[in-house]
Amino acid sequence: MKRILILLGPPGAGKGTQAEMLKNEFNMLHLSTGDLLRAAVKNGTELGKLAETYMNKGALVPDDVIFGLIDSFMVEHASESILFDGFPRNEDQAIELDRKLNELPFSVLELKVPDQSVMDRLSSRRVCADCGKLFSTSFGGISDGNCGVCGGKVFQRKDDMPETIAHRLDVYHEQTKPVTKYYRAKNRLLEIVGEGTVEAISERIRNALA
Ligand code: AP5
Ligand code: MG
Repeated sequence: MKRILILLGPPGAGKGTQAEMLKNEFNMLHLSTGDLLRAAVKNGTELGKLAETYMNKGALVPDDVIFGLIDSFMVEHASESILFDGFPRNEDQAIELDRKLNELPFSVLELKVPDQSVMDRLSSRRVCADCGKLFSTSFGGISDGNCGVCGGKVFQRKDDMPETIAHRLDVYHEQTKPVTKYYRAKNRLLEIVGEGTVEAISERIRNALA
């Protein structure tokens, strides 16, 4: 049966990391608005050029740009299970998603991680330019600046600089955190402690969804 899951949480909460487990175990398509936007930036499209000006500052990209991305993805994959990562990010986006889902049941997982851990994790995050694998300089897996999985070049995201991380956290608390209240009021919210090992967090998510 078609399943819809939403992963919420601050920047660096581990949404992308846990999405890898969820998409494999629950056979879902991973829809990360951040990844779609970064692909548009890399391809130099008009949308990418516009989005980049917001992303580099750690601000939210305007809703109409995001709705355009979501619409085409949902039309293209109408019959598939979807894991939303990084969307919705404000209350207007949540209301719009409700409208699009049109009574389809869904669950929302909130990964709870304190601000200091977010700072530590994002300062040490590295990403493979070829396969997208996420690394932490605290965990290893990178050899001579190359991805331990595919050998691609590993880079640091522009928005992972300390001042930008701080601004992303402010934006999270002001605009995205209220979305958790919105879903709690609708009895959709499953709160997950987002600290501990990646495997321990995956296990908490499995238990919450069981
Ligand atoms: P987006 O790409 O969505 O970024 P984000 O929400 O800020 O989240 P991150 O991708 O930074 O973190 P994550 O939770 O995925 O953590 P990860 O698994 O990588 O958005 C980027 C920008 O795009 C936004 O700022 C905005 O401009 C724009 N945007 C996107 N969506 C939008 C929308 N809907 N509306 C408007 N604008 C939008 O993990 C982080 C690090 O921690 C990694 O190094 C990882 O290895 C490590 N880690 C993971 N788990 C653990 C653990 N358990 N213990 C220790 N370290 C861990
Ligand atoms: Mg991510």
